Amino acid sequence: MIPTVLPTYTRAPLSFVAGDGSWLTEQDGRRFLDFGAGIAVNALGHAHPDLVQALTDQAGKLWHVSNLYQIEPQQRLADLLVEATFADTAFFTNSGTEACELAVKMARKYWHDRGADRPTILTFEGAFHGRSSAGIAAAGSEKMTKGFGPLLPGFRSLPWGDHDALRAAAAQPDVGAILIEPVQGEGGIRPLPDPCLQGLRELCDAHGLLLILDEVQCGMGRTGKLFAHDWAGVAPDIMMVAKGIGGGFPLGAVLASETAAQPMTAGTHGSTYGGNPLACAVGCTVMEIVADPAFLAEVRRKAARLRQGLEGLVAGHPEVFEAVRGTGLMLGLKCKAANTEVLQAGHAQQILTVPAADNVVRLVPPLNLTDDDMTEALARLDAAATGLHA
Ligand SMILES: Cc1ncc(COP(=O)(O)O)c(C=O)c1O
Repeated sequence: MIPTVLPTYTRAPLSFVAGDGSWLTEQDGRRFLDFGAGIAVNALGHAHPDLVQALTDQAGKLWHVSNLYQIEPQQRLADLLVEATFADTAFFTNSGTEACELAVKMARKYWHDRGADRPTILTFEGAFHGRSSAGIAAAGSEKMTKGFGPLLPGFRSLPWGDHDALRAAAAQPDVGAILIEPVQGEGGIRPLPDPCLQGLRELCDAHGLLLILDEVQCGMGRTGKLFAHDWAGVAPDIMMVAKGIGGGFPLGAVLASETAAQPMTAGTHGSTYGGNPLACAVGCTVMEIVADPAFLAEVRRKAARLRQGLEGLVAGHPEVFEAVRGTGLMLGLKCKAANTEVLQAGHAQQILTVPAADNVVRLVPPLNLTDDDMTEALARLDAAATGLHA
């Protein structure tokens, strides 16, 4: 008999009842160190007092009004994001995949309004942009698309790191945009080197293409800058944001330049819940904390320390691990043992991590984890690895 919850996830036999900082409490009372953070969602850990305050204050005042009216927390969050980024405008969604939908629509409408037939968006092998029809078509992998055809047309997936293929594809007359994650998350924690992102910007400028960055997973301070593309010193035309921006409350956004966003006039897009007062009240508080340069400097310091510890872990367990990869607090352990076994060995040591493609174990802890959390995590991962080759 089919479970009452549609079984599209392989779930661990763990059920958490409370959270506090980087820690989760299982129903049996055991405490787990959370280095998955809801897959890079709980940017400020669990039950951050400022977020709890923002949510409960807003909950006592107003939960929902339609986007037919002015929504003060939404306006405030848009102003904060525009102030802190390349963007001139923001549209709020409830998830990353909805942000992908709008990014695709915006790119298509941009060219439509210019009277050009350039609907094709270049994407990359290993990409992940969500599970909607546009999201899976953009990613293009068999794993995500098999059985779900006919797929939304207009995406061309290119090999990762093949500059010649990219240059040739960008010059095709039907191509209007390039969509890429500055750091692939689901694809196995693969950062795009800064010179490549700079090269992509130049290529887009040379052909008039829109550069769409998917910073759903790598944005909001995860790499030690507010957004991952800040490292390369280039700006996109459109950017997808979600996960960390809500700190655990469902919230996403599309940020865009005025030029890219201009065609999205009244009636061209909408969302009942997108930008609701509860989500945006939390989002404002997340932004106020994460966009602070001192907070981001701390993320970079902790990231360097964690990486160093992980390099030691890999060196100490060559039978289990191959290498550390990633950037900031978006790190991956490329495994020799099956990543699922490493993950389960972690569960036995009460530390949570997340699998990714290419046999990688992902470490995406809360950005405000403590030094003690890091020390403890390294000890638990060491014990997990020891258990695997004992
Ligand atoms: C890079 C990226 N884009 C889009 C998504 C989809 O976001 P959501 O699950 O909120 O729809 C994800 C989710 O993992 C992601 O990592």
